[in-house]
Amino acid sequence: PPMENLLNLDEMEEVAAKQVSKKAWAYYYSASDDKVSKHFNNQVYRSILLRPRVFVDCAKCELDTTVLGHKLKTPIYVSPAAMARLGHPSGEAGIAEACRSFGAMQVISNNASMTPEQIVKDAAPDQIFGWQLYVQIDRKKSEAMLARINKLKAIKYIVLTLDAPVPGKREDDERTGMTGRTAAVTSGVKAAERSSDDTPNPTEGSGGVGQQLFAGTDPSLTWTETLAWLATQSDLPIVLKGLQTHEDAYLASLHAPQVKGIILSNHGGRAMDTAPPAVHTLLEIRKYCPEVFDKIEVYVDGGIRRGTDAVKALCLGAKAVGLGRAALWGLAAGGVDGVRRTLQILNDEMKTCMRLLGVESVDQLGPQHINTRMTEQQ
Ligand code: FNR
Repeated sequence: PPMENLLNLDEMEEVAAKQVSKKAWAYYYSASDDKVSKHFNNQVYRSILLRPRVFVDCAKCELDTTVLGHKLKTPIYVSPAAMARLGHPSGEAGIAEACRSFGAMQVISNNASMTPEQIVKDAAPDQIFGWQLYVQIDRKKSEAMLARINKLKAIKYIVLTLDAPVPGKREDDERTGMTGRTAAVTSGVKAAERSSDDTPNPTEGSGGVGQQLFAGTDPSLTWTETLAWLATQSDLPIVLKGLQTHEDAYLASLHAPQVKGIILSNHGGRAMDTAPPAVHTLLEIRKYCPEVFDKIEVYVDGGIRRGTDAVKALCLGAKAVGLGRAALWGLAAGGVDGVRRTLQILNDEMKTCMRLLGVESVDQLGPQHINTRMTEQQ
């Protein structure tokens, strides 16, 4: 269908689900165990109520913001997600193209289905990327990747993912991985067309796509050893991804200025099932160690489906809000135009929400605009 006929992210997901292979659907859709965290990630936003102020001029409304000192046209960014070509041949480069049209930031997965060089090739001068690292047991592999990343001007920071030292038990993915049809893996992209053999290429057989991608990932990382090692490999700022408690947020803030940001995330419910949604962690930080917000930037992801969801996270102190599956569904439904439509829908919804709240810029949003009483009781 024409992308402009799709009015919200749920409709985008419905179209995407019909378009992609069973294997891609299972890998993208899956989450750990009973998917409690995956569902709660979104549900929790429903229990936060907005507090609109009236009789204020909201004729203008801008989404402009900054992340780590870089200007962005929207606080919505694309989270690192592996294997975009499973969903559409334009892959991560297609996502980059869509982000370019919207002044949005993209974090490239360690397990992207294209090389970082390919993905940033056509970057606009002011386009911002992060690169996400899963530290490999064979450190030389990670060191070689970091050396390449250091050379790419468009990549401004490294995202070190910490919430999945081992993959969660994702049964949809495992089931399809064992019985599904083979890796048209990169959705029509034949091995010979792949520009580089160092992008992952899971094949049919044992376990799901997730299990295969995680083979080789180092589960023995620590605050001191790993950050010290990373400092010898790159001067880029570090953003830690997958923090789920105020204790860890506080520890991260002690590692400023090497660590410049944290992403509160439970990996879209794909790691620890029944782990808290980012909103709960935001509330914990506000309660127990609010100084964290002054020392490092805080971002969130998980369960964003509406502009109001994103606005609520911003009200609670998030600087930017990530899209995992929503971006993949956009890509699967309509390639570059599908991701553009996804970003357009969310931007429009956010602007409507902000105007109805009586604010005209992102920096005016604050806790005064929401009521978290029900959330806090949970
Ligand atoms: C992910 N995520 C992820 N995170 C990461 O740090 N490295 C990765 O390679 C991946 N890969 C990945 C693949 C797929 C298919 C999904 C759905 C997710 C997690 C991702 O960055 C983000 O935390 C969640 O997706 C956010 O939740 P929502 O937006 O999907 O609800």
